[in-house]
Amino acid sequence: CLDIRKLYAQGDVFTYDPGFTSTASCDSEITFIDGDKGELWYRGYPIEQLAEKSHYLEVCYLLLHGELPSEEQMVDFENRITRHTMVHEQMHYFFRGFRRDSHPMATLVGVVGAMSAFYHDSLDINDPHHREVASIRLIAKLPTLAAMAFKYAMGQPFVYPKNDLDYASNFLHMCFSVPAENYKVDPALARAMDRIFTLHADHEQNASTSTVRLAGSSGANPFACIAAGIACLWGPAHGGANQAALEMLQEIGTVDRIPEYIKRAKDKDDPFRLMGFGHRVYKNFDPRAKVMKESADEVLDLLGIENNETLKVAKELERIALEDEYFVSKKLYPNVDFYSGIILSAIGFPTSMFTPIFALSRTVGWISQWKEMLSDPQNKIGRPRQLYVGSDKRDYVPVDKR
Ligand code: ACO
Repeated sequence: CLDIRKLYAQGDVFTYDPGFTSTASCDSEITFIDGDKGELWYRGYPIEQLAEKSHYLEVCYLLLHGELPSEEQMVDFENRITRHTMVHEQMHYFFRGFRRDSHPMATLVGVVGAMSAFYHDSLDINDPHHREVASIRLIAKLPTLAAMAFKYAMGQPFVYPKNDLDYASNFLHMCFSVPAENYKVDPALARAMDRIFTLHADHEQNASTSTVRLAGSSGANPFACIAAGIACLWGPAHGGANQAALEMLQEIGTVDRIPEYIKRAKDKDDPFRLMGFGHRVYKNFDPRAKVMKESADEVLDLLGIENNETLKVAKELERIALEDEYFVSKKLYPNVDFYSGIILSAIGFPTSMFTPIFALSRTVGWISQWKEMLSDPQNKIGRPRQLYVGSDKRDYVPVDKR
């Protein structure tokens, strides 16, 4: 491994690897995935244990610092996050410049990038204090910005953060509070929300994280890098799949229509894919999907939603696909996005908010990876090579001779 690294450094190895299916772009101590066994660890801790026993801000601390915090460290971290939940008042004008029917991801890409124009005291990537403040600001403000994007699209006034609430409750408060009503966050729903944040917090070198690292490798400021990650996450093959998965389940509508969609997914001439199915790395169950499925049952139960047709369709679709030769042979299993939409929809979010919620959860992973990259002595600007397959050298032809 080390020899190969040396060869790479000397420029003696050149590989062609579209989609980077077998190229490691970095060393990382943050997240481990065993795709064959269906295992995911953050800093060595299995995701199932963290989802059950920890909470999102503790997981943020773990991802950023490498160890679980002491009680004192946790209180200090929580206080620092809480102090930064407000956004600059002038950021409101940014939102007002967008059309009301803008997708909240479009708004989020813009306003997160615009943070670079507001927080000049956290742009110097070579200053550890600037890096630290930028990290805290991003984790603290992303829920506020995502909630503002939601409120703006609904035509409702922005709701300021309420800092005696925990992270997930505060997000629900900013999304669902209406000034004339006395909205109280249901602690069980806040717990479900917190678990969704935890399950999405990091996932090693996926497309958006690699985008953040690549942007950061040029020395770009942290807000610009996270905005780049958000843009990449938006695609339906990545974070946009949670919206696409729920919309697909709703389109299927009833269990009797599942075979028609399974047939379409297997048809090579039909571009349709089962959204929320398949993964580049997992060739077994995505462990996050298992937790998400249990959580979906709990939330619907809690809300007294019985016989939810979408959940029925999801479970039956999973059952049929897992027995189907096509899906078995290609090792296609439900991924994290398959069940998350059912929970988010039951909590009251429209599908357009699913990917922004993914983005705010993943922000800590992006930042942890960005910081790791900057402190890596091997770090250099990312610059993939190519195989040129264009025209041979030729002479310019004036327009009247073409
Ligand atoms: N439905 C039907 N067939 C599928 C699906 C699917 N969801 N996913 C993969 N396949 C098939 C492909 O057609 C391909 O078949 P072939 O070998 O006959 O050509 C084979 O399985 C391998 O698929 P690839 O696209 O080459 O696999 P890759 O690793 O590049 O893609 C991806 C992984 C993008 C996640 C893919 O499975 C997919 O498009 N899934 C649906 C979208 C989705 O749920 N994305 C969320 C991913 S998780 C996340 O980002 C949080």
